[in-house]
Amino acid sequence: HAEADTDFVLPANQEWAKNIITKWKNSKDTLHKVKPVVVAGKEITEDRKIYEAIDKSQLHEGVLAGKFAMANEQDLKEAVDIAKADIDGWRTLSYEQRHAILKQAAIKVREKRADLIGIAASEVGKVFTETDVEVSEAVDFIEFYSYATRYFQEYKNLEFKGKGVGVVVPPWNFPVAIPLGGIAATLAAGNTVIIKPATVAALTAYEMCKCFWEAGISKNTLQFVPCAGALAGEHLIANKDVDFVILTGGEDTAATMLKTRPDLFLTAETGGKDATIVTNMADRDQAVKNVCQSAFGNSGQKCSATSLLVLEEEVYNDENFKKALIDTAKSMSVGSVWDFKNRIGTLANKVSGKLKEAIERVEEGEEWILEPTYAQNNEYMLRPAIKWGVKEKSFMHLNELFGPVLAVMKAKNLKHAVDIVNSTGYGLTSGIESLDEREVEYWKANLKAGNLYINRGTTGAIVLRQPFGGMGKSAIGAGRKVGIFNYITQFMDFKEVDKPQ
Ligand code: ALA
Repeated sequence: HAEADTDFVLPANQEWAKNIITKWKNSKDTLHKVKPVVVAGKEITEDRKIYEAIDKSQLHEGVLAGKFAMANEQDLKEAVDIAKADIDGWRTLSYEQRHAILKQAAIKVREKRADLIGIAASEVGKVFTETDVEVSEAVDFIEFYSYATRYFQEYKNLEFKGKGVGVVVPPWNFPVAIPLGGIAATLAAGNTVIIKPATVAALTAYEMCKCFWEAGISKNTLQFVPCAGALAGEHLIANKDVDFVILTGGEDTAATMLKTRPDLFLTAETGGKDATIVTNMADRDQAVKNVCQSAFGNSGQKCSATSLLVLEEEVYNDENFKKALIDTAKSMSVGSVWDFKNRIGTLANKVSGKLKEAIERVEEGEEWILEPTYAQNNEYMLRPAIKWGVKEKSFMHLNELFGPVLAVMKAKNLKHAVDIVNSTGYGLTSGIESLDEREVEYWKANLKAGNLYINRGTTGAIVLRQPFGGMGKSAIGAGRKVGIFNYITQFMDFKEVDKPQ
């Protein structure tokens, strides 16, 4: 069964949430204690570059969320050597031994729910409810992956062991669940693991790693090496003793890794340009609600976020639908995560790159029906924005933005809508809003995406219930989907050993 999320409506839970604010809003501990690089059982801060993480919830006051040491070239080399040597024998443990320790790690994650929410709030500006579901997903990942290898025990002739050394390179947008999922899968499959956290979310990753260390996984078995991407490419990814890499990030990062090391066993989830189609047969009020939550939740900084809204002609011309969309988007207030009336927190990075381009550039036929504006005049606090009349093959149609900017397109009919969505080349999540089963059947058969959602939002996949991962430009590697059995088999070698009976 899936781990339950916190019900923030209950008074007791509201009190609990207030305590998180008290602890993390001005946490002196996180400010002053530099978080170490963890390599070869050692915690290293001396003679390392120190990264100062700004507090995304209190930008105007110039507060830090904390500091951490950055690994150098030597650390990366040593980490791989130690991981290869497996000096604490993780790879030689039995299924039962590993399972018992990982179960403890899941308990630690449960215990640390409040702290994980607090650090993610201050480090990446994520609202409580969004990190809360990540913590539940994290517990599910550990419990499922640690249980999953039991399945192979049923085959008496099948011997299996981990491939060796796994490196996890997660993004910053799900600072708890994605790094943890990679670590849990790697460990459960019987490998040692090195995590290179996203710099923007390294403090949260450190807090998460503590769950494994406190559960009894040694600092030789799980090593923590925050560093710049280029350094990791050269001294971690390029190292032939690394047996596989789990990446969740951009296509460009995946391409660079494979260029650095063409023989690399890489499994990667590489984003999306996800759409929701609303047909003439939809419940339009429900569609507005689902689309706004999927497009603007966590400021649209989800690979699963709806960033294209494709409307069949009648819906496109429905002024009431348009107004409801604008009003709902406007009602999602943006601001400090410590104020619970805000549905959306801060962007993890200042507006730049493609998101900036999408904001500044208006192509032929496009118009803002909800202009991009900043709350508190702050470039980290972009309010939901909606661009109407986006044309096929335009910048807005084809580029992943990772921000709260929704592109609305018109389709002649459902077939046209499906073609518009498929032509992005990505294929991660996709939604349809329609009460007509024949339409849904057509869409299911023809839409190219890994996670299809009918009359609901396109985000928030649950382990095992909605194994998550895509196709096309959204995925590289064999297993593709997380939260299902075949994911961990990627990190294991199997030998079938037979003899005459
Ligand atoms: N697994 C995350 C979601 O489904 C990305 O939203």
